[in-house]
Amino acid sequence: MNGPFHLHRTVASWRQARRGAGFQGVSVGFVPTMGALHAGHVALVERARRENDRVVLSVFVNPTQFDDPADLARYPRTLSADLALAGPFVTDVLAPEADELYADGYRFHVTERDLSREMEGASRPGHFDGVLTVVLKLLNLVQPDRVYFGEKDWQQLELVRGLCRSFFLSTEVVACPTVRDRDGLALSSRNVRLSEAGRARAALFPTILRGAVDALSAARALAKAGLDVDYVTDRSGRRLAAIRVEGVRLIDNVPL
Ligand code: PAF
Repeated sequence: MNGPFHLHRTVASWRQARRGAGFQGVSVGFVPTMGALHAGHVALVERARRENDRVVLSVFVNPTQFDDPADLARYPRTLSADLALAGPFVTDVLAPEADELYADGYRFHVTERDLSREMEGASRPGHFDGVLTVVLKLLNLVQPDRVYFGEKDWQQLELVRGLCRSFFLSTEVVACPTVRDRDGLALSSRNVRLSEAGRARAALFPTILRGAVDALSAARALAKAGLDVDYVTDRSGRRLAAIRVEGVRLIDNVPL
């Protein structure tokens, strides 16, 4: 099915459609997002489009994964632009209000006690509980055959895989390669906050991660290049890192 998509602003409208004839006997791909879409998200919906009969995109700025209220307040909300960008590839868009997804006031939530406390989780307490809780809610609502996540957020991807295994969800988690700008910097909605000079310095991030012999030398080389290092870790055949450039936090990971 190509052409105009259905926009659902309430859970009730979505559930009615999901139970309807249009979803019987078809495969369903799902791309969860917080909006502010860029070419990285487009790659996810394009792939979902190729592999499924229907493609559901969710656009929901999830309040429970923000540890800083100021960060939540300034997160871009660009639904019309998002629909224009992803619209050609999706059949359904789910964009509910927070009150509805969190009618219980976040009384019930998912907690992971190991990987979620490290790396990204170490500097953002509660972040992954919020992510896993909203992903579980969305997977239960959408009931997709496949859900698409970018490898850029490797830790999130691993945690979502664990969530699906632990709660016996039948959705297949599909990992999609990181989309990069020409200079190698991973696409992120945060990149636009960098000045021209900051953007040029940020491009050294993936180059240094790839080139260094170990995590410690990578951290040293990043610091020498004027990048403020949060962590660099080698694990499970990947090098994962987070840095700050002009106060903007960037993450990336490369295969070793
Ligand atoms: O990666 C994101 O954009 C978010 O963490 C997700 C998976 C949509 C949950 O809010």
